[in-house]
Amino acid sequence: MHTINIKGGNILSGEIPVSGAKNSVVGIIPAAILCDEDVNIYNVPQLSDVDNLIEILNYLNVQVESKEDYLRIVPNSMTNRPIHGEFSRKLRASYYFMGALLSKYGHVEISLPGGCVIGARPIDLHLKGFKALGATITEDGDNMIIEANELVGTNIYLDFASVGATINLMLAAVKAKGKTIIENAAKEPEIVNIATFLNNMGARISGAGTNRIKIEGVEYLHSCFHEVIPDRIEAGTFVILGAAMSNGLKVTNLIPEHIYSLTEKLREMGVPLEIGPDYIIVSKPEKYNPVDVQTLIYPGFATDLQQELASLLVLADGTSSIDETIWENRFQNLYELAKMGARIKVEGERAYIYGPTKLVGTTVMATDLRAGAGLVIAGLIASGNTEIQNADYILRGYENIVEKLSNIGATIELI
Ligand code: EPZ
Repeated sequence: MHTINIKGGNILSGEIPVSGAKNSVVGIIPAAILCDEDVNIYNVPQLSDVDNLIEILNYLNVQVESKEDYLRIVPNSMTNRPIHGEFSRKLRASYYFMGALLSKYGHVEISLPGGCVIGARPIDLHLKGFKALGATITEDGDNMIIEANELVGTNIYLDFASVGATINLMLAAVKAKGKTIIENAAKEPEIVNIATFLNNMGARISGAGTNRIKIEGVEYLHSCFHEVIPDRIEAGTFVILGAAMSNGLKVTNLIPEHIYSLTEKLREMGVPLEIGPDYIIVSKPEKYNPVDVQTLIYPGFATDLQQELASLLVLADGTSSIDETIWENRFQNLYELAKMGARIKVEGERAYIYGPTKLVGTTVMATDLRAGAGLVIAGLIASGNTEIQNADYILRGYENIVEKLSNIGATIELI
Protein backbone atom coordinates (compact mmCIF):
# COMPACT_ATOMS: atom_id res chain seq x y z
CA MET A 1 0.00 0.00 0.00
CA HIS A 2 1.28 3.46 -0.89
CA THR A 3 1.16 6.65 1.17
CA ILE A 4 1.08 10.20 -0.18
CA ASN A 5 2.82 12.85 1.92
CA ILE A 6 2.03 16.52 1.35
CA LYS A 7 3.47 19.66 2.85
CA GLY A 8 0.60 22.11 2.46
CA GLY A 9 0.25 25.84 1.96
CA ASN A 10 2.16 26.30 -1.34
CA ILE A 11 0.64 28.63 -3.92
CA LEU A 12 0.28 26.62 -7.14
CA SER A 13 0.84 28.00 -10.63
CA GLY A 14 1.65 27.02 -14.20
CA GLU A 15 -0.10 24.48 -16.42
CA ILE A 16 -1.51 21.11 -15.55
CA PRO A 17 -2.67 18.78 -18.35
CA VAL A 18 -5.64 16.44 -18.12
CA SER A 19 -5.19 12.80 -19.21
CA GLY A 20 -7.61 10.46 -20.99
CA ALA A 21 -10.82 9.54 -19.17
CA LYS A 22 -10.60 6.55 -16.86
CA ASN A 23 -14.31 5.80 -17.01
CA SER A 24 -14.21 5.83 -20.80
CA VAL A 25 -11.09 3.73 -21.33
CA VAL A 26 -12.24 1.08 -18.86
CA GLY A 27 -15.21 0.47 -21.16
CA ILE A 28 -13.24 0.76 -24.38
CA ILE A 29 -10.65 -1.90 -23.45
CA PRO A 30 -13.19 -4.72 -22.84
CA ALA A 31 -15.17 -3.49 -25.89
CA ALA A 32 -12.08 -3.95 -28.09
CA ILE A 33 -12.41 -7.73 -27.93
CA LEU A 34 -15.61 -7.51 -30.00
CA CYS A 35 -13.46 -7.09 -33.09
CA ASP A 36 -11.15 -9.74 -34.63
CA GLU A 37 -8.65 -7.25 -36.03
CA ASP A 38 -6.31 -4.73 -34.44
CA VAL A 39 -7.75 -1.91 -32.36
CA ASN A 40 -5.65 1.22 -31.87
CA ILE A 41 -6.46 3.48 -28.94
CA TYR A 42 -4.86 6.86 -28.20
CA ASN A 43 -4.84 9.12 -25.13
CA VAL A 44 -4.91 6.11 -22.81
CA PRO A 45 -4.06 7.12 -19.21
CA GLN A 46 -1.53 5.02 -17.28
CA LEU A 47 -3.63 3.89 -14.34
CA SER A 48 -3.80 0.77 -12.22
CA ASP A 49 -7.37 0.14 -13.47
CA VAL A 50 -6.01 0.05 -17.05
CA ASP A 51 -3.21 -2.34 -15.98
CA ASN A 52 -5.77 -4.62 -14.36
CA LEU A 53 -7.87 -4.78 -17.54
CA ILE A 54 -4.75 -5.51 -19.61
CA GLU A 55 -4.00 -8.36 -17.20
CA ILE A 56 -7.44 -9.82 -18.03
CA LEU A 57 -6.76 -9.41 -21.77
CA ASN A 58 -3.43 -11.25 -21.38
CA TYR A 59 -5.20 -14.04 -19.53
CA LEU A 60 -7.68 -14.30 -22.44
CA ASN A 61 -4.75 -14.60 -24.89
CA VAL A 62 -5.36 -11.20 -26.41
CA GLN A 63 -2.24 -9.51 -27.75
CA VAL A 64 -1.63 -6.10 -26.22
CA GLU A 65 1.08 -3.56 -27.01
CA SER A 66 1.33 -0.31 -25.13
CA LYS A 67 3.61 2.67 -25.46
CA GLU A 68 3.01 5.83 -23.44
CA ASP A 69 -0.61 6.82 -24.19
CA TYR A 70 -1.04 4.38 -27.12
CA LEU A 71 -2.59 0.95 -26.76
CA ARG A 72 -2.92 -1.67 -29.49
CA ILE A 73 -5.22 -4.62 -28.85
CA VAL A 74 -5.33 -7.60 -31.23
CA PRO A 75 -7.98 -10.13 -30.17
CA ASN A 76 -7.74 -12.47 -33.19
CA SER A 77 -6.34 -15.42 -31.22
CA MET A 78 -8.22 -14.94 -27.97
CA THR A 79 -9.81 -17.71 -25.94
CA ASN A 80 -12.94 -17.37 -23.84
CA ARG A 81 -11.96 -18.44 -20.32
CA PRO A 82 -13.70 -17.97 -16.95
CA ILE A 83 -12.77 -14.63 -15.38
CA HIS A 84 -12.25 -15.56 -11.74
CA GLY A 85 -12.50 -13.29 -8.72
CA GLU A 86 -8.73 -12.77 -8.62
CA PHE A 87 -9.17 -10.71 -11.82
CA SER A 88 -12.71 -9.37 -11.60
CA ARG A 89 -12.52 -8.14 -8.01
CA LYS A 90 -9.65 -5.77 -8.77
CA LEU A 91 -11.97 -3.24 -10.39
CA ARG A 92 -15.58 -2.39 -11.13
CA ALA A 93 -15.16 -2.23 -14.88
CA SER A 94 -14.30 -5.94 -15.13
CA TYR A 95 -18.07 -6.34 -15.54
CA TYR A 96 -17.87 -4.92 -19.06
CA PHE A 97 -16.46 -8.32 -20.05
CA MET A 98 -19.97 -9.64 -19.37
CA GLY A 99 -21.51 -7.67 -22.24
CA ALA A 100 -18.47 -8.04 -24.49
CA LEU A 101 -17.96 -11.82 -24.09
CA LEU A 102 -21.70 -12.50 -24.26
CA SER A 103 -21.83 -10.60 -27.53
CA LYS A 104 -18.76 -12.31 -28.99
CA TYR A 105 -19.21 -15.91 -27.78
CA GLY A 106 -22.73 -16.19 -26.36
CA HIS A 107 -21.13 -17.49 -23.15
CA VAL A 108 -19.45 -15.79 -20.16
CA GLU A 109 -18.24 -17.20 -16.88
CA ILE A 110 -17.31 -14.40 -14.53
CA SER A 111 -17.14 -13.50 -10.83
CA LEU A 112 -18.65 -10.35 -9.36
CA PRO A 113 -16.71 -7.11 -9.87
CA GLY A 114 -14.88 -5.06 -7.20
CA GLY A 115 -14.51 -1.28 -7.11
CA CYS A 116 -14.75 1.54 -4.58
CA VAL A 117 -17.01 0.89 -1.58
CA ILE A 118 -19.36 3.85 -2.03
CA GLY A 119 -22.71 2.08 -1.88
CA ALA A 120 -24.38 -1.29 -2.46
CA ARG A 121 -23.54 -1.21 -6.20
CA PRO A 122 -25.95 -3.90 -7.44
CA ILE A 123 -25.84 -5.04 -11.09
CA ASP A 124 -29.49 -6.04 -11.43
CA LEU A 125 -30.11 -3.61 -14.31
CA HIS A 126 -27.25 -5.12 -16.32
CA LEU A 127 -28.58 -8.64 -15.75
CA LYS A 128 -32.19 -7.70 -16.52
CA GLY A 129 -31.02 -6.19 -19.81
CA PHE A 130 -29.00 -9.31 -20.76
CA LYS A 131 -32.08 -11.43 -20.04
CA ALA A 132 -34.27 -9.15 -22.17
CA LEU A 133 -31.81 -9.75 -25.05
CA GLY A 134 -32.33 -13.49 -24.65
CA ALA A 135 -29.61 -14.58 -22.21
CA THR A 136 -30.03 -16.96 -19.30
CA ILE A 137 -28.10 -16.39 -16.09
CA THR A 138 -27.00 -19.00 -13.58
CA GLU A 139 -25.67 -17.61 -10.32
CA ASP A 140 -23.59 -19.61 -7.86
CA GLY A 141 -22.37 -17.44 -4.99
CA ASP A 142 -20.09 -14.78 -6.48
CA ASN A 143 -19.81 -16.60 -9.82
CA MET A 144 -22.19 -16.46 -12.72
CA ILE A 145 -22.67 -17.96 -16.13
CA ILE A 146 -24.42 -15.80 -18.70
CA GLU A 147 -25.25 -17.50 -21.97
CA ALA A 148 -27.43 -17.23 -25.05
CA ASN A 149 -27.80 -19.26 -28.25
CA GLU A 150 -28.78 -16.05 -29.94
CA LEU A 151 -29.14 -12.47 -28.75
CA VAL A 152 -32.14 -10.71 -30.23
CA GLY A 153 -32.67 -6.95 -30.20
CA THR A 154 -35.46 -5.62 -28.00
CA ASN A 155 -36.67 -2.57 -26.06
CA ILE A 156 -35.02 -2.16 -22.66
CA TYR A 157 -36.15 0.42 -20.11
CA LEU A 158 -33.60 1.14 -17.38
CA ASP A 159 -35.24 1.89 -14.01
CA PHE A 160 -32.29 4.19 -13.31
CA ALA A 161 -30.02 5.83 -15.91
CA SER A 162 -27.06 3.67 -14.90
CA VAL A 163 -23.73 4.37 -16.60
CA GLY A 164 -22.49 0.81 -16.27
CA ALA A 165 -25.74 -0.84 -17.39
CA THR A 166 -26.01 1.45 -20.43
CA ILE A 167 -22.47 0.58 -21.54
CA ASN A 168 -22.80 -3.16 -20.83
CA LEU A 169 -26.07 -3.35 -22.76
CA MET A 170 -24.61 -1.46 -25.72
CA LEU A 171 -21.81 -4.06 -25.78
CA ALA A 172 -24.25 -6.97 -25.56
CA ALA A 173 -26.59 -5.55 -28.23
CA VAL A 174 -24.03 -4.48 -30.78
CA LYS A 175 -24.07 -7.82 -32.63
CA ALA A 176 -27.58 -8.93 -31.61
CA LYS A 177 -30.11 -9.75 -34.30
CA GLY A 178 -32.24 -6.70 -35.14
CA LYS A 179 -32.78 -3.47 -33.27
CA THR A 180 -32.28 -2.73 -29.55
CA ILE A 181 -33.54 0.44 -27.93
CA ILE A 182 -32.25 1.44 -24.49
CA GLU A 183 -34.74 3.84 -22.88
CA ASN A 184 -33.72 6.04 -19.94
CA ALA A 185 -30.10 5.46 -20.94
CA ALA A 186 -27.31 7.30 -19.14
CA LYS A 187 -26.05 10.39 -21.01
CA GLU A 188 -22.53 10.79 -19.61
CA PRO A 189 -19.80 11.84 -22.09
CA GLU A 190 -18.09 8.47 -21.55
CA ILE A 191 -21.15 6.73 -23.03
CA VAL A 192 -20.85 8.86 -26.16
CA ASN A 193 -17.11 8.13 -26.39
CA ILE A 194 -17.67 4.36 -26.11
CA ALA A 195 -20.55 4.43 -28.64
CA THR A 196 -18.29 6.37 -31.04
CA PHE A 197 -15.58 3.76 -30.52
CA LEU A 198 -18.01 0.95 -31.34
CA ASN A 199 -19.26 2.85 -34.41
CA ASN A 200 -15.63 3.32 -35.52
CA MET A 201 -15.45 -0.50 -35.52
CA GLY A 202 -18.59 -0.70 -37.68
CA ALA A 203 -21.37 -0.80 -35.09
CA ARG A 204 -24.61 1.06 -35.80
CA ILE A 205 -25.43 3.00 -32.64
CA SER A 206 -27.32 6.28 -32.63
CA GLY A 207 -28.66 8.51 -29.89
CA ALA A 208 -25.72 8.13 -27.46
CA GLY A 209 -25.73 11.25 -25.28
CA THR A 210 -29.54 11.29 -25.19
CA ASN A 211 -31.74 9.11 -23.00
CA ARG A 212 -32.76 6.88 -25.95
CA ILE A 213 -30.02 4.83 -27.60
CA LYS A 214 -30.76 2.79 -30.74
CA ILE A 215 -28.54 -0.12 -31.75
CA GLU A 216 -28.92 -1.96 -35.07
CA GLY A 217 -27.08 -5.25 -34.68
CA VAL A 218 -24.21 -5.94 -37.13
CA GLU A 219 -22.43 -9.22 -37.86
CA TYR A 220 -18.86 -8.04 -37.96
CA LEU A 221 -16.72 -5.38 -36.29
CA HIS A 222 -13.43 -4.28 -37.86
CA SER A 223 -10.12 -2.61 -37.08
CA CYS A 224 -10.21 1.02 -35.90
CA PHE A 225 -8.36 4.01 -34.51
CA HIS A 226 -9.91 5.83 -31.59
CA GLU A 227 -9.07 8.59 -29.13
CA VAL A 228 -10.17 8.60 -25.48
CA ILE A 229 -11.83 11.87 -24.37
CA PRO A 230 -10.23 13.97 -21.60
CA ASP A 231 -11.10 12.92 -18.07
CA ARG A 232 -13.75 15.37 -16.86
CA ILE A 233 -13.34 14.28 -13.24
CA GLU A 234 -9.58 14.77 -13.27
CA ALA A 235 -10.18 18.15 -14.96
CA GLY A 236 -12.70 19.12 -12.29
CA THR A 237 -10.33 18.02 -9.52
CA PHE A 238 -7.57 20.28 -10.85
CA VAL A 239 -9.95 23.22 -11.31
CA ILE A 240 -11.09 22.84 -7.68
CA LEU A 241 -7.46 22.68 -6.61
CA GLY A 242 -6.74 25.90 -8.50
CA ALA A 243 -9.75 27.55 -6.88
CA ALA A 244 -8.28 26.65 -3.49
CA MET A 245 -4.58 27.33 -3.89
CA SER A 246 -3.67 29.22 -7.04
CA ASN A 247 -3.24 32.74 -8.34
CA GLY A 248 -3.71 31.52 -11.91
CA LEU A 249 -3.57 27.79 -12.67
CA LYS A 250 -4.14 26.77 -16.29
CA VAL A 251 -5.81 23.38 -16.57
CA THR A 252 -5.32 22.18 -20.15
CA ASN A 253 -6.60 19.38 -22.49
CA LEU A 254 -10.15 19.44 -21.21
CA ILE A 255 -13.65 19.87 -22.64
CA PRO A 256 -15.14 22.73 -20.58
CA GLU A 257 -18.77 21.84 -21.30
CA HIS A 258 -18.25 18.44 -19.61
CA ILE A 259 -17.73 20.24 -16.27
CA TYR A 260 -20.19 23.08 -16.75
CA SER A 261 -22.14 22.13 -13.61
CA LEU A 262 -18.91 22.47 -11.60
CA THR A 263 -17.72 25.75 -13.13
CA GLU A 264 -21.17 27.31 -12.57
CA LYS A 265 -21.02 26.23 -8.91
CA LEU A 266 -17.52 27.69 -8.57
CA ARG A 267 -18.72 31.00 -10.06
CA GLU A 268 -21.50 30.99 -7.47
CA MET A 269 -18.77 30.61 -4.84
CA GLY A 270 -17.02 33.68 -6.27
CA VAL A 271 -14.13 31.84 -7.92
CA PRO A 272 -12.62 33.72 -10.90
CA LEU A 273 -12.50 31.52 -14.02
CA GLU A 274 -11.39 32.11 -17.57
CA ILE A 275 -12.85 29.39 -19.78
CA GLY A 276 -11.18 28.82 -23.16
CA PRO A 277 -12.00 26.26 -25.88
CA ASP A 278 -9.89 23.51 -24.25
CA TYR A 279 -8.54 25.06 -21.06
CA ILE A 280 -9.64 26.79 -17.87
CA ILE A 281 -7.58 29.33 -15.93
CA VAL A 282 -8.63 29.44 -12.30
CA SER A 283 -7.57 31.52 -9.29
CA LYS A 284 -8.52 31.72 -5.63
CA PRO A 285 -10.92 34.52 -4.70
CA GLU A 286 -10.52 36.77 -1.62
CA LYS A 287 -13.56 35.14 -0.07
CA TYR A 288 -15.67 32.07 -0.95
CA ASN A 289 -19.49 32.07 -0.80
CA PRO A 290 -21.07 28.95 0.70
CA VAL A 291 -23.19 26.88 -1.73
CA ASP A 292 -25.71 24.03 -1.80
CA VAL A 293 -24.85 21.15 -4.11
CA GLN A 294 -26.91 18.18 -5.22
CA THR A 295 -25.29 15.34 -7.14
CA LEU A 296 -27.25 14.22 -10.18
CA ILE A 297 -26.82 12.17 -13.33
CA TYR A 298 -25.11 14.03 -16.21
CA PRO A 299 -25.35 16.92 -16.99
CA GLY A 300 -26.08 17.53 -13.29
CA PHE A 301 -23.33 17.95 -10.71
CA ALA A 302 -21.14 14.80 -10.87
CA THR A 303 -21.09 12.60 -7.79
CA ASP A 304 -17.44 11.92 -8.65
CA LEU A 305 -16.61 15.58 -7.91
CA GLN A 306 -18.53 16.14 -4.68
CA GLN A 307 -15.82 14.76 -2.40
CA GLU A 308 -13.21 17.01 -4.00
CA LEU A 309 -15.51 20.05 -3.76
CA ALA A 310 -16.11 19.30 -0.05
CA SER A 311 -12.46 20.18 0.67
CA LEU A 312 -12.95 23.60 -0.95
CA LEU A 313 -16.23 24.23 0.89
CA VAL A 314 -14.28 24.14 4.16
CA LEU A 315 -12.92 27.56 3.11
CA ALA A 316 -16.37 29.09 2.40
CA ASP A 317 -17.68 31.86 4.57
CA GLY A 318 -20.79 30.16 6.01
CA THR A 319 -22.66 26.85 5.81
CA SER A 320 -22.63 24.77 2.62
CA SER A 321 -24.56 21.57 2.01
CA ILE A 322 -24.08 18.53 -0.21
CA ASP A 323 -26.92 16.17 -1.14
CA GLU A 324 -25.57 12.88 -2.49
CA THR A 325 -28.35 11.30 -4.56
CA ILE A 326 -26.40 8.63 -6.51
CA TRP A 327 -24.44 6.66 -3.87
CA GLU A 328 -25.45 5.77 -0.29
CA ASN A 329 -21.98 5.81 1.23
CA ARG A 330 -19.97 8.66 -0.23
CA PHE A 331 -19.21 10.89 2.76
CA GLN A 332 -16.38 8.85 4.30
CA ASN A 333 -13.94 11.61 3.28
CA LEU A 334 -15.73 14.05 5.59
CA TYR A 335 -14.75 12.12 8.71
CA GLU A 336 -11.12 12.34 7.55
CA LEU A 337 -11.52 16.08 6.80
CA ALA A 338 -12.84 16.52 10.34
CA LYS A 339 -9.55 15.07 11.63
CA MET A 340 -7.86 17.99 9.85
CA GLY A 341 -10.13 20.53 11.56
CA ALA A 342 -13.18 20.77 9.27
CA ARG A 343 -16.55 21.27 10.95
CA ILE A 344 -18.97 18.79 9.43
CA LYS A 345 -22.38 17.26 10.10
CA VAL A 346 -23.69 14.27 8.14
CA GLU A 347 -27.42 13.57 8.21
CA GLY A 348 -28.21 10.57 6.01
CA GLU A 349 -27.59 11.59 2.42
CA ARG A 350 -27.01 15.27 3.26
CA ALA A 351 -23.82 16.75 4.66
CA TYR A 352 -23.27 20.23 6.06
CA ILE A 353 -19.89 21.91 6.02
CA TYR A 354 -19.49 24.88 8.32
CA GLY A 355 -16.82 27.30 7.14
CA PRO A 356 -14.49 28.96 7.14
CA THR A 357 -12.06 26.69 8.94
CA LYS A 358 -8.30 26.42 8.79
CA LEU A 359 -7.17 22.88 7.97
CA VAL A 360 -4.16 21.42 9.76
CA GLY A 361 -2.22 18.49 8.33
CA THR A 362 -2.43 15.10 10.02
CA THR A 363 -2.62 11.38 9.12
CA VAL A 364 -5.75 10.51 7.13
CA MET A 365 -7.04 7.56 5.14
CA ALA A 366 -8.24 7.47 1.52
CA THR A 367 -11.38 5.33 1.79
CA ASP A 368 -12.09 5.42 -1.96
CA LEU A 369 -10.73 7.06 -5.11
CA ARG A 370 -12.51 10.43 -4.97
CA ALA A 371 -12.28 10.58 -1.16
CA GLY A 372 -8.53 10.29 -1.70
CA ALA A 373 -8.54 13.06 -4.31
CA GLY A 374 -10.46 15.28 -1.88
CA LEU A 375 -7.84 14.61 0.78
CA VAL A 376 -5.03 15.53 -1.63
CA ILE A 377 -6.76 18.91 -2.11
CA ALA A 378 -7.21 19.24 1.66
CA GLY A 379 -3.55 18.38 2.25
CA LEU A 380 -2.45 21.06 -0.21
CA ILE A 381 -4.68 23.64 1.54
CA ALA A 382 -3.69 22.64 5.08
CA SER A 383 -0.82 23.99 7.11
CA GLY A 384 1.85 21.44 7.99
CA ASN A 385 2.20 17.85 6.83
CA THR A 386 -0.58 15.51 5.73
CA GLU A 387 -0.03 11.80 5.34
CA ILE A 388 -2.67 10.08 3.17
CA GLN A 389 -2.70 6.35 3.78
CA ASN A 390 -4.26 3.87 1.35
CA ALA A 391 -3.16 6.08 -1.55
CA ASP A 392 -3.46 3.18 -4.02
CA TYR A 393 -7.10 4.22 -4.42
CA ILE A 394 -5.91 7.56 -5.82
CA LEU A 395 -3.56 5.89 -8.31
CA ARG A 396 -6.55 4.07 -9.81
CA GLY A 397 -7.88 7.29 -11.27
CA TYR A 398 -5.18 9.95 -11.49
CA GLU A 399 -2.28 9.46 -13.89
CA ASN A 400 1.12 10.63 -12.58
CA ILE A 401 -0.62 12.63 -9.90
CA VAL A 402 2.50 13.29 -7.84
CA GLU A 403 4.53 14.44 -10.84
CA LYS A 404 1.70 16.61 -12.19
CA LEU A 405 1.19 18.35 -8.85
CA SER A 406 4.95 18.76 -8.21
CA ASN A 407 5.22 20.50 -11.59
CA ILE A 408 2.80 23.22 -10.47
CA GLY A 409 4.59 23.84 -7.18
CA ALA A 410 3.17 21.31 -4.71
CA THR A 411 5.41 19.60 -2.15
CA ILE A 412 4.15 16.03 -2.49
CA GLU A 413 5.68 12.58 -2.53
CA LEU A 414 4.51 8.99 -2.98
CA ILE A 415 5.96 6.44 -0.61
C1 EPZ B 1 -19.98 4.81 -12.92
O1 EPZ B 1 -20.25 3.79 -11.97
C2 EPZ B 1 -18.60 5.31 -12.61
N1 EPZ B 1 -17.67 4.19 -12.71
C3 EPZ B 1 -18.58 5.91 -11.21
O2 EPZ B 1 -17.31 6.50 -11.04
C4 EPZ B 1 -19.63 7.01 -11.08
O3 EPZ B 1 -19.70 7.44 -9.74
C5 EPZ B 1 -21.00 6.48 -11.51
O4 EPZ B 1 -20.92 5.89 -12.82
C6 EPZ B 1 -22.07 7.56 -11.54
O5 EPZ B 1 -21.68 8.59 -12.39
C7 EPZ B 1 -17.25 3.78 -13.91
O6 EPZ B 1 -17.62 4.32 -14.95
C8 EPZ B 1 -16.29 2.64 -13.94
P1 EPZ B 1 -24.18 3.55 -12.11
P2 EPZ B 1 -21.44 2.77 -12.19
O7 EPZ B 1 -24.46 2.20 -12.64
O8 EPZ B 1 -21.58 2.51 -13.64
C9 EPZ B 1 -27.54 2.07 -9.02
C10 EPZ B 1 -15.29 6.99 -9.93
O9 EPZ B 1 -15.03 7.56 -8.83
N2 EPZ B 1 -27.59 0.85 -9.83
O10 EPZ B 1 -24.53 4.75 -12.93
O11 EPZ B 1 -21.22 1.63 -11.27
C11 EPZ B 1 -26.24 2.17 -8.24
O12 EPZ B 1 -26.29 1.41 -7.04
C12 EPZ B 1 -16.41 5.98 -10.04
O13 EPZ B 1 -14.63 7.16 -10.97
C13 EPZ B 1 -28.52 -0.12 -9.54
O14 EPZ B 1 -29.34 0.02 -8.61
O15 EPZ B 1 -22.65 3.67 -11.68
C14 EPZ B 1 -26.12 3.65 -8.00
O16 EPZ B 1 -26.88 4.03 -6.89
C15 EPZ B 1 -17.00 5.60 -8.74
N3 EPZ B 1 -28.53 -1.27 -10.29
C16 EPZ B 1 -26.72 4.25 -9.28
O17 EPZ B 1 -27.52 3.20 -9.86
C17 EPZ B 1 -27.65 -1.46 -11.32
O18 EPZ B 1 -27.73 -2.53 -11.96
C18 EPZ B 1 -25.70 4.73 -10.31
O19 EPZ B 1 -24.87 3.66 -10.68
C19 EPZ B 1 -26.70 -0.47 -11.61
C20 EPZ B 1 -26.69 0.69 -10.85
